[in-house]
Amino acid sequence: MVGDPAELTARQIDLKQASPSRVYDYLIGGACNFAVDREWANEAIKRMPWIRAAARSNRAFLRRAVRLCASHGVTQFLDLGSGIPSGQSVHEMARKIEPASNVVYVDNEAVAVAHSQLTLDAVSGAGIIEADLTDTDFVLRHPLTRSLLDFSRPVALLMTASLYYIPDHDLVRRTVARYVDAVPSGSYLVLSHTTLGKSQRDALELANVLEMTKSLTSAATARTPAWIAALFTGLEMLDPGLVYTSYWRPEGLRVLNQAPWHDSVLAAVARKP
Ligand SMILES: C[S@@+](CC[C@H](N)C(=O)[O-])C[C@H]1O[C@@H](n2cnc3c(N)ncnc32)[C@H](O)[C@@H]1O
Repeated sequence: MVGDPAELTARQIDLKQASPSRVYDYLIGGACNFAVDREWANEAIKRMPWIRAAARSNRAFLRRAVRLCASHGVTQFLDLGSGIPSGQSVHEMARKIEPASNVVYVDNEAVAVAHSQLTLDAVSGAGIIEADLTDTDFVLRHPLTRSLLDFSRPVALLMTASLYYIPDHDLVRRTVARYVDAVPSGSYLVLSHTTLGKSQRDALELANVLEMTKSLTSAATARTPAWIAALFTGLEMLDPGLVYTSYWRPEGLRVLNQAPWHDSVLAAVARKP
């Protein structure tokens, strides 16, 4: 964990290089971003006008999936690559259904960690660890994890829009498997991951933005639907399976002129048998 968030210095926040958490915060309408992040995002919007819809649709998927886990009685959440807390945080989403829910947030970006700490200061049953989520032993053995999560009871593992910042395919597979191994039967895996769109034009636009992410503090990698689906091996996939975020149990009206592949992010929820 970082110390006093007020001590977060320019040394820790690189104001010359855009970062995934701050760019995402800007895209979903948050206020915790800097000029460099907004410039990057505005250029990305020019190249791929639906990037904002994709980010917001991902966040909305997370909210629906957390509520689903809570409605199945899960009261423990491990949010890996949690981001900057803009709008509703996972503990707020879960506590609407299960008021006694505990949440451990994990992120490796100083700004995301500092802002989460500020938000969580007065909140019991929730906290943040500054860590690389692939450092599974560090996260799982961390005193905050041990104090807030009881691994003899089901845990919802949240890995939304974070694994694509890890370029090593094997490392991603091993990381997911290690977390799934650490939780008992009745636990859930909530995962979303970017993929190239169905139409050639969308795929080209996304590829263009993925190229741009090389200038971020972490570059993003799109993976095929089959590769993403394999991360759920051994788990019971919930309906409707691995689909574009806006097709995962949509609520209310959908924007008619927004084709689903414009979301470009696949999502699913699965239960550990
Ligand atoms: C696009 S945001 C997604 C935030 C949130 N999970 C959501 O779906 O709304 C991606 C987040 O993953 C974090 N992240 C990327 N790679 C990570 C890693 N190796 N370890 C921990 N966090 C990571 C970034 O810092 C960023 O905050």
